[in-house]
Amino acid sequence: MIYLDHAATAFPRARGVAGAVATALDIAGSAGRGAHGGARQAGSLVDECRARAADLLGGDDPRRVVIFPSSTLALSTAIADLCLGASAQSTLLIGPLEHNAVWRPAVRGLSEERVLLLPSHTNGLVDSAALETLDPAQALGVVVQHASNVSGLIQPIEEIGAWCSKHGLPLLVDGAQAAGIVPTVVERIPALRVYTTAGHKFLGGPPGIGLCWLAPGYEPEPLWIGGNGVDSELSRIPAGGPGRFESGTPNLPGIAGLAAALRTFDDDPPAARFSRLAAIRKVWVEDLSAIEGIEICGEGGPGLRTPVISLQVAGFDPNEAAALLDERIGARCRAGLHCAPLAHRHLGTFPEGSLRIAPGEEVSDEKRGVVIAALAELCREGVTGRR
Ligand SMILES: Cc1ncc(COP(=O)(O)O)c(C=O)c1O
Repeated sequence: MIYLDHAATAFPRARGVAGAVATALDIAGSAGRGAHGGARQAGSLVDECRARAADLLGGDDPRRVVIFPSSTLALSTAIADLCLGASAQSTLLIGPLEHNAVWRPAVRGLSEERVLLLPSHTNGLVDSAALETLDPAQALGVVVQHASNVSGLIQPIEEIGAWCSKHGLPLLVDGAQAAGIVPTVVERIPALRVYTTAGHKFLGGPPGIGLCWLAPGYEPEPLWIGGNGVDSELSRIPAGGPGRFESGTPNLPGIAGLAAALRTFDDDPPAARFSRLAAIRKVWVEDLSAIEGIEICGEGGPGLRTPVISLQVAGFDPNEAAALLDERIGARCRAGLHCAPLAHRHLGTFPEGSLRIAPGEEVSDEKRGVVIAALAELCREGVTGRR
């Protein structure tokens, strides 16, 4: 098997994750539910996960990190809250390559016509200079991804934040594809209210865990409420802090697994990972570009990228190409729209989407060679019609 789907979920998980998940299942108690030994043991894992997440994202206060069941739920919560004060004229400004985790809640909160795309370059990079041409009078805020799950493109969130700050607009950033490999200091991004991410992608944790940093003093309306082990005598949820959002029994195995993944950053920070992965991406792009019949989507133009590459394979639908790669060489790539129809519309690959290669560090040069040879063979078949 050659795993090329890190943008969907990490495999293998980070060092220590599987053991931490299993060990958590043997803890006799639930976090925040009582004061006995098991509850305290569980609580200390939650505290560790929160503290490490704050540290990784550059947040000063661990209590501003909320643990969600996924980054999707964190985004839905934040976007629904942004739309609460909407009028018939309100708009929401979003990036041109957004995932459905942003687009769908935005459209539900307003309407398709009132969700507007930020100006961008041909490759989808938000054009910071062109932001000045926008009239932000009706905008409720800006939501933009930090890195694309289609092309890996990294958005200039500091510059977008500076424009937001000038116009008094809140900025929400979807960091699902960036956290862990794109160095980030949330406290230094102007106008940033919310930064969300998924625990199971480039952080290397288990699925079922999302993280959300909330700016100090920003307390959106939760999407669900209930018991959380604090202020239980009251009919209302807490006015602030993680307890406002973390109703329901926490996913302790997931939290323990994510805490283990976050420990690996102690001796291998995001900047080091990014430079290794950028080198890996470069070699893949060089090899792919040399194949006649392969077109890389959204490549070129300004901007840095994470190790996520989208392709068109001459003569093949992306799903067909992915199935053949799996069948012939055991390569696991994702094909289609990758839950990001906006990105494919922008890059001209809608509705068929792309074949996505998202390699990790474990893929050897030899295995890359096998994939490149198999893709070259596919292109020959596609071009000559011998399929
Ligand atoms: C850019 C982006 N945002 C949000 C999400 C949603 O993450 P999750 O499915 O883990 O909630 C994903 C997942 O693919 C993503 O790639």
